[in-house]
Amino acid sequence: MTTAVQVIERKKRGEELTAEELRYLLGGFVGKQIPDYQMAAWLMAVCWRGMTDAETLALTGAMVESGATLDWPGLDRPTVDKHSTGGVGDKTSIVLVPLMAAAGAAFVKMSGRGLGHTGGTLDKLESIPGFVCELPLDEMRAQVRRIGCALVGQSPELVPADKLTYALRDVTGTVDSIPLIAASIMSKKLAGGARSMVLDVKWGSGAFMQTQEEARELAATLVRIGTGAGRGTRAVLSGMRQPLGRAVGNALEVREAIDTLAGGGPDDLWALTLELGAHLLEMSGLARDADEGRATLTRLRDSGAGADMLETLVQAQHGDPRVVRQPELLPAAPVVRAFTVDEDGPRWVEAADARGIGDAALALGAGRKTKADQVDPAVGIVLRARIGDRVHPGQPLADVHARSDEAAEAAFAALRAAFRLSTEPVPAADEPYETVG
Ligand code: URA
Repeated sequence: MTTAVQVIERKKRGEELTAEELRYLLGGFVGKQIPDYQMAAWLMAVCWRGMTDAETLALTGAMVESGATLDWPGLDRPTVDKHSTGGVGDKTSIVLVPLMAAAGAAFVKMSGRGLGHTGGTLDKLESIPGFVCELPLDEMRAQVRRIGCALVGQSPELVPADKLTYALRDVTGTVDSIPLIAASIMSKKLAGGARSMVLDVKWGSGAFMQTQEEARELAATLVRIGTGAGRGTRAVLSGMRQPLGRAVGNALEVREAIDTLAGGGPDDLWALTLELGAHLLEMSGLARDADEGRATLTRLRDSGAGADMLETLVQAQHGDPRVVRQPELLPAAPVVRAFTVDEDGPRWVEAADARGIGDAALALGAGRKTKADQVDPAVGIVLRARIGDRVHPGQPLADVHARSDEAAEAAFAALRAAFRLSTEPVPAADEPYETVG
C-alpha cells in the first residue's frame, strides 16, 4: 500500500511518480487524510526536483478530478476560454469576453481577485454598482446559454484541490514551480470545459515570470497540458515591464475597457485583445484565420455590438447597465492630482515600472495587502506617459486618483521610484507578441 511518506521520499530522490500516486496524494489531501505538513513537504520536493511532462499532466488530471467539471451538451456555440498569468492594468477580459460572445462564442470567464501589486478582474467588475461575480453554477450555465458569456469568480465546486494547495503554497514558499503553476492554471481551465483556450503569459517586472525565457517555458508547459487533454490551446507571451493600457485601479480600468469597446482606449490594450481574440476565433472555427478573426473583432467593436453585449452582461449579473453609456456613473475619487516631471530639460521615459506602479495603486487602496482587506473601487493611477515618450519639465507623467491629499502624496513617493527618466532617447517598450502552440 502507498503511503504519503513514500510518495514524498520518491519525489525527494527525483523519481517519476505515477498517476496513481498523484491521485492518492491529491485525493488524500482534499479528503483531509493527508495533513498540510506532508503536502507541504511534497510541494517543496517538487520545487527542487521538478516533474516530467507525464507527471505534470497526471497531476493536472488528479486536480481536475477533485471537483465538478462543466460541460455543455447541446450548446450551439463553440466554447472558448482565456487565462492571464496576471499583471498590472490588465483589463483585457472585460473587452474580450463581450466581443467573443458577440462573435458567436460561448465564453465562461472565471477570474480571481487581486492580491499584492496585481489587480483582479472580479474587483474591477465589482466597481460597477450592483455587479455580482459569485453566481451559482446553475445560474451561470443558464446565463451562458441565454447570452453567450459570463464573467464570474472561480466556482468553489471546480478544482477544490487547487484552492487548498494554492493556499498552502502561498505560505510555504512553494509557489514558483513551473509544473505546480501549470497544473494549477490548467486544472481550472480544463474543468471549465472550453474546447479552445488562449493563455496570456506575461513577463517583466509586473508579472509572475520576470524573464521572457521563464515565460516561454511556462507557456510551453501550459500548451502541452492543454493539447495533451485534447483542447485547442495556444499561449501568447506579452510584456509587462509597464502596465497594460493607462489605467491602474478598479473603476478606472472598467472605464478604460468601456472606452476601448467604444473605439477609443489605449492601443496596447486593443492590440492584445485582437491578438488573443483572433487566436480564439481561429481555433474555434469562427474565423478562417487570425486575420479574419481580427477583422471580425474590429467590426464588432465598430458596430457597437461589443458594447451592447457588455451592457447585456452587466444587466444579467445584476449590475447597473447604464455605466456602459455613462461611465461617469462609476465610483470616482474625491482627489485627482497630477504627478509631474521635476527635472530640467527634455527627458525620455526609460522605466514606468509595472511593479512599482502596481504597488503605488495598492497603497492608495486599489488592492489588498491581505486577503481580508476591502478594496476602494475609485482610487488608482492613470498614466500619461509610457516608456519611450519624450517629456518636458512640469509635464504630467500620471494622474493620481486618491481618497485624500496625504494618500496622493504617498503615491507620488512610490511613483518617483517607479518612473526613471533618461537624458537620451529610449525606444518604446512594444515587444512583439510570441505565440506558443
Ligand atoms: N495562477 C494560478 O492560478 N496558479 C498558480 O499557481 C499561479 C498563478
